[in-house]
Amino acid sequence: MTKILLYRVTALLTGYAALASAQLTGSVGPTTAFKQKWATICNVLDFGGELGSSDIGPAIGRAFTECVLPNPGSTLVVPEGNYNMSTWQTLANGKNWAFQMDGIITRSSDTGGHMIIIQNADDFEMLSSNSAGAIQGNGYLARNIGPRLLRIVTSTNWAVHDLIFVDSPEFHIVVQGGSNGEIYNLAIRGTNLGGSDGIDISGNNHWVHDVEVTNRDECVTVKSPASNFMIQRIWCNQSGGSAIGSLGSNTKVENITYRDVYTNGGNQMFMIKSNGGSGYVRNVLFRNFLGRGTAYGLDINQYWVQKTPDGGPGVQLSNITFNNWDGSVANTDKIRPPMQFLCADGAPCTDIHLTHMKMWADRGNATVLCQSAYGSGTPCLEQAQDSLEKQEAQTGTGTVAAYPVVTEVMLEKPSGMKIPAALPGDLAVGFATDAPIPIPYVPLLS
Ligand SMILES: *[C@@H]1O[C@H](CO)[C@@H](O)[C@H](O)[C@H]1NC(C)=O
Ligand SMILES: *[C@@H]1O[C@H](CO)[C@@H](O)[C@H](O)[C@H]1NC(C)=O
Ligand SMILES: *[C@@H]1O[C@H](CO)[C@@H](O)[C@H](O)[C@H]1NC(C)=O
Ligand SMILES: *[C@@H]1O[C@H](CO)[C@@H](O)[C@H](O)[C@H]1NC(C)=O
Ligand SMILES: *[C@@H]1O[C@H](CO)[C@@H](O)[C@H](O)[C@H]1NC(C)=O
Repeated sequence: MTKILLYRVTALLTGYAALASAQLTGSVGPTTAFKQKWATICNVLDFGGELGSSDIGPAIGRAFTECVLPNPGSTLVVPEGNYNMSTWQTLANGKNWAFQMDGIITRSSDTGGHMIIIQNADDFEMLSSNSAGAIQGNGYLARNIGPRLLRIVTSTNWAVHDLIFVDSPEFHIVVQGGSNGEIYNLAIRGTNLGGSDGIDISGNNHWVHDVEVTNRDECVTVKSPASNFMIQRIWCNQSGGSAIGSLGSNTKVENITYRDVYTNGGNQMFMIKSNGGSGYVRNVLFRNFLGRGTAYGLDINQYWVQKTPDGGPGVQLSNITFNNWDGSVANTDKIRPPMQFLCADGAPCTDIHLTHMKMWADRGNATVLCQSAYGSGTPCLEQAQDSLEKQEAQTGTGTVAAYPVVTEVMLEKPSGMKIPAALPGDLAVGFATDAPIPIPYVPLLS
């Protein structure tokens, strides 16, 4: 699924296959090749596990403690087959190891937390070698009370790839800090309800690419602190949409590129969200976005009502460029703006630049809203910028002042819009909330 269709989206948006990129500051992924970790194979079946097990958790824990930790250059293997799991495992401080998950592990306890935590790993990869490795969360049986599926905490030089994550009771994958991580060729299939986040990621120098997410909450979302991320070829299939946020006090987000992102239905094409707070988001590029039937399009909202306000003047957004977007909001139940820049009065947005933006509404007026935002590419950003520059010319200094919401109505549909009526693989509605979600097949990328 993911591979072919995502490449098709890339071609549609850019006419060429995107190269990896500028925004990373160094190499990502494990420093040792997978095959070099076959010196020691730590098979869960040799550590008390069995096919069809009612709880494979203890065998994973033992294989890790008794075999991986004492033997750098080893691979923990869960062989092809079905396993239940009811005791969650934290696999901490492993260096130079791999976790080859070729089986399907099904959640069978409602205990909260995370089914698998990888913590302080270095030179690590988690993968499936057979296009079948999956965690089935059966979230429909434990909605918002059960665990998340996978958390990667403060790990360095790692990758997670060629795996399938299905119906987590809560978020699917959380990456907390760490550096030089790579996530690719994943399918995430969550339910059509809030709380079903696909990937939430913070840290430094991470690359996320070729990922498909179906859910009703975050698709691939950046959390603070974050720097030097490349997020690329993301297919949000009836998903809530991707975001940076929500952001609070002491936000530190910089040097982020998102590109080649397709969003079908759901809440937004992209959102930067906060309510109060402090710190910054700067040097961010959003390039080649395609969206159809989302509620919002490009949505900067620093008065986001769904977040309890944080203390502070607001998070300062600066040097943020949106390039080559093609999207149309649904406006079915409510009229919503294809683009809004609602910036904090206490920390106005500066250098917000729009180029080649073709944003429209399926029905009703297409509007652009600006508040305390400066930049270029749409009249309300430009008017604020012009008056600032005039003031600078006259007095030598300019004050980036707050201003109340300005609503402009886009009079004409942008020319050259090329949103296809449908793409192969589009999902008409989200997955069931009260029945099992099937595990898809994911061809290996390599
Ligand atoms: C695995 O869990 C399912 C419920 O998810 C249960 O029906 C099945 O009996 C369990 N299998 C074993 C071997 O415990
Ligand atoms: C972000 O990029 C700028 C410009 O390249 C660089 O000066 C800065 O150090 C980068 N920030 C981080 C945290 O790497
Ligand atoms: C603005 O952000 C872009 C990335 O979108 C970066 O290349 C550029 O160096 C930044 N400019 C400044 C003045 O930091
Ligand atoms: C649409 O915008 C026009 C101004 O261009 C305005 O007269 C009209 O009332 C607006 N319609 C709606 C439904 O807001
Ligand atoms: C979107 O979800 C549908 C329903 O499961 C699936 O058939 C399709 O392959 C998914 N699209 C992509 C691009 O993976």
